[in-house]
Amino acid sequence: MKKLFFIIGAPGSGKTTDASLIAKNNSDTIVHYSTGDMLRAEVASGSELGKEIDSYISKGELVPLEIVLNTIINAVKNAPKDVVIIDGFPRSVEQMLKFDKLLEKEDEIKLLSVIEARVSEEVAKERILGRAAEAKPNEVRSDDNEEVFYNRMKVYNEPLKEIQNFYTQKNLLKVIDAERDLETIVKEMEAFVKEKAGI
Ligand code: C5P
Ligand code: MG
Repeated sequence: MKKLFFIIGAPGSGKTTDASLIAKNNSDTIVHYSTGDMLRAEVASGSELGKEIDSYISKGELVPLEIVLNTIINAVKNAPKDVVIIDGFPRSVEQMLKFDKLLEKEDEIKLLSVIEARVSEEVAKERILGRAAEAKPNEVRSDDNEEVFYNRMKVYNEPLKEIQNFYTQKNLLKVIDAERDLETIVKEMEAFVKEKAGI
């Protein structure tokens, strides 16, 4: 039985970094995948699918529903550990509802919590533009620039209330203040995940 956690958060909230560290600290039991990183890996492979994905990512738009869902489902099913953390999903109401339907039919996967890494827009923007300034030229993400940042923020914020309400009703939403230092955030998130997962 796979015990699943989602981490949602604005671009720049640090959700991928937080989850990577938690998985690294618990490599015997926890595995982590970043939705954005999985999509970018497909782009990097140079495949036709990757080209299609890139046409959305580079503008900060959402990748088509079926592509994202397949990516998530494959990652969970093939995960080598039972506790799976996926960051960056769901990012829209339709991603959330479609995944929820799929979960109803899946006895082997249980969603244990959706963690929201919460930051203000100012902090998010500082981190994203800082990340772009520090990256090597060939490693700058095509969407880490000011113009695309505002669109990604808008795309993130637009469904947020509905996503929060949906998971609050299911008693699955956990909000974590992600403006603090990395160590403090990771400590709180890690303790929460381990307690929920019973590990
Ligand atoms: O999470 P991250 O900022 O790395 O995501 C990068 C891009 O991947 C998003 O801007 C969007 O184009 C795509 N994406 C998506 N659906 C998700 C997560 C990411 O379409 N659930
Ligand atoms: Mg990320």
